[in-house]
Amino acid sequence: MRRTDYCGRIDRTRLGQVVTVCGWVHRRRDHGGVIFIDLRDREGLLQIVCDPDRAVTFATAEKLRNEFVIAVTGLVRPRREGTINTNLITGEIEVLAHEIEILNASLTPPFLIDDENISETVRLEHRVLDLRRPAMQKNLMLRHKASMSARRYLDAHGFVDIETPVLYKSTPEGAREFLVPSRVHHGQFYALPQSPQLFKQLLMMAGFDRYYQIVKCFRDEDLRADRQPEFTQIDVETSFLDELEIRELMEGLVRTMFQETLGVELEKPFPIMTYSDAMRDYGSDKPDLRVPLKLTELTDLMHGTEFKVFRAAADLPEGRVAALNVPGGGTLTRKEIDEYTTFVSIYGAKGLAYVKVNDASNPNEQGLQSPIVKFLSADVLAEIIARTGAKSGDLIFFAADRAKIVDDALGALRAKIGHERGFVRAGWRPLWVVDFPMFEYDDQKKMWGARHHPFTAPKDGHEQMFTTDPGHALAKAYDVVLNGWEIGGGSVRIHRPEVQAEVFKALGIGEEDQRKKFGFLLDALQYGAPPHGGIAFGVDRMVAIMAGVDQIRDVIAFPKTQRGQDLLIDTPSAVTEQQLRELHIRIRASD
Ligand code: AMO
Ligand code: AMP
Repeated sequence: MRRTDYCGRIDRTRLGQVVTVCGWVHRRRDHGGVIFIDLRDREGLLQIVCDPDRAVTFATAEKLRNEFVIAVTGLVRPRREGTINTNLITGEIEVLAHEIEILNASLTPPFLIDDENISETVRLEHRVLDLRRPAMQKNLMLRHKASMSARRYLDAHGFVDIETPVLYKSTPEGAREFLVPSRVHHGQFYALPQSPQLFKQLLMMAGFDRYYQIVKCFRDEDLRADRQPEFTQIDVETSFLDELEIRELMEGLVRTMFQETLGVELEKPFPIMTYSDAMRDYGSDKPDLRVPLKLTELTDLMHGTEFKVFRAAADLPEGRVAALNVPGGGTLTRKEIDEYTTFVSIYGAKGLAYVKVNDASNPNEQGLQSPIVKFLSADVLAEIIARTGAKSGDLIFFAADRAKIVDDALGALRAKIGHERGFVRAGWRPLWVVDFPMFEYDDQKKMWGARHHPFTAPKDGHEQMFTTDPGHALAKAYDVVLNGWEIGGGSVRIHRPEVQAEVFKALGIGEEDQRKKFGFLLDALQYGAPPHGGIAFGVDRMVAIMAGVDQIRDVIAFPKTQRGQDLLIDTPSAVTEQQLRELHIRIRASD
């Protein structure tokens, strides 16, 4: 029996024809004398009918159980009136089985393939069966479509797909690395690349002009719904283009992928927001613009206020007082407010003051209900109502602290309330966030770190601020945000060796370390490096958004759990003493 068709593709145009299909028994129903089989392959379900007139075929059909693999030859005929299902391509037809061959039996699977209520642990332990679920098949097909679309676009725009090494070198920037011990070089290690960043820059210096790669990257960081230890980037680099040109070309890539994969037209052009505006208005550098709520700046109002919590925060050098007005929030209960207070404490907020606006035209102790109203002057209260635009029936939340804490707390609260209280508007809201700071202060290490990575060019003229005011030096760095997810990030790179050395210095990487870690880059920069820049998109995140799932594990065939394990193949796992010996490694007792 040679297959003629996919199960899920046969429609009424094939009526009267004999077909051969192969697939898995999704369900077998015994209808007193007639057996119905829903046969499944990657394209969908097909109804097979086995009638007792064909005794051998019928006897085979009686033996079938869920997930048996079979081949069926039969006649395509119309379904009976009343059994038509117009949601399926195959919904108007069925195949009357002439012959059935069992290609392989199956044990009883641990769950039904279309059961939606299986725990993720069970799904990941039995990932092969889980991947048979139509939803997972759809997600991975979508992923294929999206990456093919990206390849076509990049190819059409002159990008060359070049592979870069996976056995890379440990470098001091970014997330924690995965190390690979060398057998040949005693005590030395490769590191898996967090991204091909420096290789793609070297390829520009080598004259390839436009590079891309759909490539695995490795980061040993804490895992979340949108983070895996190995994930995939569409990694891009170009020469001789400025920031605007790169963004335009890359916006075209995202737009094309959404058009070709989903038939969605993203707005053109994407709106552009500076990093500082994003933090001021949304408390986040990846605001979900589907949520129409905004933060209100109050720091300047609070310098003279009697309420100590607000005054102290406003007077801090990096302090901030801000508000979030929740329309209709007057109905929030004490318990709900307490829950939000606990929620913001995750971000370090020490409290979450609030004002219930009973009567917006009366912004004083009569119209406003709150433990803090008595500490705020009439002018300040009137100004709070004016700036937030609060109406009667609203509730205003306040956070006061170091700006980072206020931003994180209110930014997260905005997103949470937006989703929980039905403020999210349908649709796609892409956004460029630009003008990121060059540096970011690391409180733990007590030193400046690169906000994007140390190869990012400063905005013109901002080099002078590296030593005088590093906190305010801006970079030619940009992110693409979609519906509150950071789906891509990139920058124009430093192409002059002296600027690169300045940045390393500002980051506290001494000359010796610079040579040891990045000598190859500093050297290449001296032999005619073109101006260059690029971006990398997170494929897993883009496809997750396209598929409408909220964790990237659902668009990755064999993902890791939150604890970095693959439950199907059971890794990480121990290795033999012999292997360790060859690698010159001794395991320490855990401390
Ligand atoms: P960046 O670190 O911003 O930039 O990464 C680019 C994009 O990759 C995705 N991403 C992840 N996806 C899943 N799991 C993770 N752990 C993870 N980490 C990042 C995000 C992110 O926007 N070399 C630079 C790019 C450049 O400058 O060209 C880089 O790697 O969607
Ligand atoms: P207290 O005077 O500490 O009882 O606080 C009065 C109100 O201010 C309470 O609703 C607290 O949740 C709130 N509050 C305390 N600290 C902060 C802060 N840093 N930011 C915002 N609100 C706060």
